[in-house]
Amino acid sequence: MEERTIHMELCSSRKQKPESSQLEFGKVFTDHMFIMDYSDELGWHDPRIVPYQPLSIDPSAMVFHYGQSVFEGLKAYITPEGDAQLFRPEKNFHRLNRSNQRLCIPPIDEEFGIKAIQQLIALEKDWIPTAEGTSLYIRPFIISTEPYLGVAPSRHYKFIVILSPVGAYYKEGINPIKIAVENQYVRTVVGGTGEAKTGGNYASSLKAQEDVAKKGFAQVLWLDGVERKYIEEVGSMNVFFKINGEVVTPALNGSILEGVTRNSVNQLLKHWNIPVEERAISMEEVYEAYKNGTLEEAFGAGTAAVISPIGQLAWNDEDLVINNGETGDLSKRLYDTLTGIQYGRRDDPFGWVV
Ligand code: COI
Repeated sequence: MEERTIHMELCSSRKQKPESSQLEFGKVFTDHMFIMDYSDELGWHDPRIVPYQPLSIDPSAMVFHYGQSVFEGLKAYITPEGDAQLFRPEKNFHRLNRSNQRLCIPPIDEEFGIKAIQQLIALEKDWIPTAEGTSLYIRPFIISTEPYLGVAPSRHYKFIVILSPVGAYYKEGINPIKIAVENQYVRTVVGGTGEAKTGGNYASSLKAQEDVAKKGFAQVLWLDGVERKYIEEVGSMNVFFKINGEVVTPALNGSILEGVTRNSVNQLLKHWNIPVEERAISMEEVYEAYKNGTLEEAFGAGTAAVISPIGQLAWNDEDLVINNGETGDLSKRLYDTLTGIQYGRRDDPFGWVV
């Protein structure tokens, strides 16, 4: 069992903070980070907050060779009263442990993980940017560090949390993005690691993204890896379609990541009495709806971008222009409500903020 006291080593001088209106996504890091080690003998131990710094890791550490690693992403926001708050952090820690299980990484104590983040945020509160649409992105991750080239679960790990003041994930912000349906590559398959947040899923997505970027698309729409028929995700986000007044999002089938924003969107829609279904949805069905004029909106949902409307969907030789390429009313309402709750500007009827 891990030791409960977090040892603190503070840096001697603080870095210059960036102008919050100029922030991009994930390029600047704060003054401190959290680290905790694991060994089979000691379990998770030595939790500490230390100056942000490069790590010294053996070149034979297993993470470099076989990719045994997991990560999470959540954000801290400043309320109008100047308090720092988190959005549903327990969901992220719960998912982290599910990813751990899939990757044969020992679980961490979820409550302790949240406490560690709270302590780190309290120390770095001045780094939470205040400009519209900005926040402090929190990246917890675990890497396997045992120096060994055998293919087996590592017996040593590091759990680390770094913080990055961020602006919009997509340069388009809440403006619609152009998406290409991906027919050649797949992200993952049922039985693979798709529902775990592990680096390999993102590494395998890069080629498709790079190829469509050359044609002017922001991201790809992933289809299932077996029939290449059913829709799974958009880029690194969950995806939603509004067809004839009803919202549909692909059901969790083992290859789709269970997004915290996805779950929050589903709960909000139910709260508003807007019909929402989690079920398999094929590209043919979306195309049909487009052709008969019932495809009203499509959008991605994720922590980084929150809600990202899809303005154009390229499929085979067709260009589906959705809602005249404009941000739909539902996308806007979801974005405003979620960010309103996250930034403490609106009531939080679900008790989501911490
Ligand atoms: C998110 O939507 O939050 C993501 O998963 C993107 C992240 C990998 C940068």
